[in-house]
Amino acid sequence: MPEEIQQWDEQIAHTGQISLADGVTLLPLTPLIGAEVHGLNLTKPLSSASLTALTDAFLRYKVLMIRSGGQWKMDVDEHTGLCKDLSNHWGLSADTEQKEMNNSEGLTVHPFLPWLRHYPHVWVTSSVASGGQQYQLRSSEDVENYEPFAGQKEARKRKPPRSAGDNSKAPVPQYRPGSFGGAALNQDTVNNGANAFHFDDGFFHHPPSAVVLNSVVLPKVGGDTIFADMGAAYRGLHPDLQKKAKSLTQTMDWRHVFPVWEIEAERRASEGDESFRDHVEQLIEDYPPSRQPVIRQHPVTGELSIYTNLGFTREIDDVSKEESDQLMATLCRMAERPEYQVRMRWLNEGDVCIYDNRITNHYAVADYGHVGPRSLHHIALLGEPTLNAYGEVVG
Ligand SMILES: [Fe+2]
Repeated sequence: MPEEIQQWDEQIAHTGQISLADGVTLLPLTPLIGAEVHGLNLTKPLSSASLTALTDAFLRYKVLMIRSGGQWKMDVDEHTGLCKDLSNHWGLSADTEQKEMNNSEGLTVHPFLPWLRHYPHVWVTSSVASGGQQYQLRSSEDVENYEPFAGQKEARKRKPPRSAGDNSKAPVPQYRPGSFGGAALNQDTVNNGANAFHFDDGFFHHPPSAVVLNSVVLPKVGGDTIFADMGAAYRGLHPDLQKKAKSLTQTMDWRHVFPVWEIEAERRASEGDESFRDHVEQLIEDYPPSRQPVIRQHPVTGELSIYTNLGFTREIDDVSKEESDQLMATLCRMAERPEYQVRMRWLNEGDVCIYDNRITNHYAVADYGHVGPRSLHHIALLGEPTLNAYGEVVG
C-alpha cells in the first residue's frame, strides 16, 4: 500500500472521511471494508488522478459504492467505458485461450447466464427477467442473432396451463444442495441465485478480478448486497487452521452451480433433439474444472484471504469427502461474522458498486420479491492467474 493510504486511517480517526483528488470524498462504512464515494460523476470520463484515487480507495476498502445522488445514471456504453478504463489502468488483458474465448471489448463474457443484446459482456442480474439458458455465442453473427431469454419464452409457450390449486406438477428445484439456491427465502420468488456468500465465476481458470455493478431499476427498499472481507476472515482463523488451509487447493466446477444445462440436454435428447447435448459437451470441454488455492494471495496488495466458494467449489483436493465438507463449512462460515462485513444499501438508481472479487465474498439479500423489481447490470473485469499463500501460480 502506498504511504498516503496508510495515513488514511489516521485521517479517518479524526474526521471520518478522506478527501481525494478532484473534489471527491471517500466515506468509509466500517474500519475494514466498504466505503461510499461522493462527488464523482461516472457519466464523464475519469481523469487519470481520479482513476488512481479510485484504485487506491478500491484496494484499501475492497468495495466502493459510488453514490449518484440521483443526479446521474450511466448508460450501457458509459458503463462499458468505465470498465475498459479500469482494465487499462490495471493492466488487465485477455492473455489466455479461455479469456480470449470470452472476450467482449476486453471484458468477461459469462458463458452460462443471459446477457444484454449487443453487449455480451453485460450480464443482467434481474428479478424482472432472471435465469434461463442460452447457447454460448461464438461469433459476431451469433451475437447479432441472439434473442435474450428465447429459451424461456419457448418453454413458457410449450407449458400447458395448470388448474388452480394443483401442485402436483410443481417444478422441482434444479439447484443441488449446497449450491446458491439452497438458501432461497420464501418471500422472494424470483431471485434465488446469489443469496449465499460467494465470489463470482470461480469456474474460470482466472476468475474475474473485479465486478462493476450499475443499478438500473431498484425497489424503494430491500435488495441490499452484503460483502465480507475474506482477508480479515483469514486473519480470524486459528493459526493451526491457517497453516493447514495454506497448503490446500480446491476444484471448482460450473456444473456444480448450473446442473440445469445437463438436465436440459437430457430432456431435449429424450424428445429426440441431440443438438443441445452436443453443445453442452462442448461447454464441458471448453470449461473444464478449475483448480484454485484455498488461501489466495492478492496479486496487488499481497494480502492473504480465504478463497472458498459455496457455489462453485466441488471439493477440497486430496482430503476425504468428510474433511472437505467440514473445512468448507468452517471456512465459508467466516464470511458470516458481522465484524468482517459491510451491508451496502442501493439508494438511488445510478448508484454503482465496484467490488474486489479476489478478496471479498458477497451475498445478494433476497428480501424484495414482493416489494418491486430490481435490475443491476453486471460487468466482470478480466482476472489474473491465482496465487497461493506462497505466491505460486495455481489457477
Ligand atoms: Fe455474485
